[in-house]
Amino acid sequence: MIYFDNAATSWPKPPGMAEAMVHFVNDVGANPGRSAHRLAVDSGRIVYNAREAVAGLFNAPDPLRVVFGPNVTEALNLALHGLLRPGDHVITSSMEHNSVMRPLRALERQGVEVTVVRCSPQGFLDPADVEAAVRPNTVMIALNHASNVVGTLLPVAEVGHIARRHGLLLLVDAAQTGGAYPIDVQADGIDLLGFTGHKSLYGPMGTGGLVIGERVDVARMEPLKQGGTGSRSEHEEQPGFLPDLCESGTPNAVGLAGLEAGVRWVLERGVDAIRAHEVELAQRLVDGLMGISGVTVCGGLDATRQTATVSFNITGMEPSEVGLRLDEEYGIMCRVGLHCAPAAHKTIGTFPVGTVRFGLGAFNTLEEVDAAVAAVGRLAQEAR
Ligand SMILES: Cc1ncc(COP(=O)(O)O)c(C=O)c1O
Repeated sequence: MIYFDNAATSWPKPPGMAEAMVHFVNDVGANPGRSAHRLAVDSGRIVYNAREAVAGLFNAPDPLRVVFGPNVTEALNLALHGLLRPGDHVITSSMEHNSVMRPLRALERQGVEVTVVRCSPQGFLDPADVEAAVRPNTVMIALNHASNVVGTLLPVAEVGHIARRHGLLLLVDAAQTGGAYPIDVQADGIDLLGFTGHKSLYGPMGTGGLVIGERVDVARMEPLKQGGTGSRSEHEEQPGFLPDLCESGTPNAVGLAGLEAGVRWVLERGVDAIRAHEVELAQRLVDGLMGISGVTVCGGLDATRQTATVSFNITGMEPSEVGLRLDEEYGIMCRVGLHCAPAAHKTIGTFPVGTVRFGLGAFNTLEEVDAAVAAVGRLAQEAR
């Protein structure tokens, strides 16, 4: 079996990840940040360690400004709904996933103005187009770090400079890059970084969050929900400090134990080493697919400018059929269709049919890439 669906969720997970979760369930178990007994203290320490690991990975200065939630979708909703008000203007790109696009469309109905800057058919964004879209009432730029459809990297550091120059907040959706591509929230000028635990951070599903920078006025931030935090229990009002402002209810501590182990594995292996491996895999895949007659590869075709996610189509065969046959006949797991990103497919010209997407990860090998290219070659020959 060849697992090429890492852009949806990574698998397998690194050694130690499942064990950390089993340890939590069997030996710790208590509710973090609530009681004061030793098991609760251990549990709270595990959650804090996960905060520290995430802060370290992204060079966030304060672990307490890492807010956890179930996934990046909730984190992006928190940043957008929590900070944008009617009359505000926000700039985004045409390569966004629906986890940015749908909250923005909902906010638009409430009076937030939204500009979608068009990217090239390869998925690239020109920072000058972002700057040209800035208006007097612009408050935020919300950008995908890398497309989940074609892997194209967006110029977040350049846009970070633009955001600083104009006094705007930069929100980055790092679902596809966290752990797979170097991110330094301070150097890149990122004010809000949404991350999800189950992709290239190699943690479990049900974990994710938002890194909130110092330029964000937390007093202006509306949490998505209110409730028990284990702190300031004498007050009926939500605490105003992070992370408690945005973390109501018992957290997924067992998942965060696994997330910490996943992030520690990424840190030990090194983001640069993971990136170098994935660039090699992606370029071999792009070159291999490009060499097949009847196959169209989408995106920039340059692995140094994208993640290890590659989209393609076979002339004369629907993506759904390609995906089914790759699974049934060749044991290759991938994802086909629109990948929750209709705007991105419109940008690259593959809407509404979509593409076949190979999402490679740290555990894939060149041999698997060669086998997959050969399988696509045989399907393309049949389709001719
Ligand atoms: C770019 C991008 N943003 C957001 C998401 C949503 O991730 P999650 O389902 O973990 O919230 C994904 C996942 O597919 C993604 O690729």
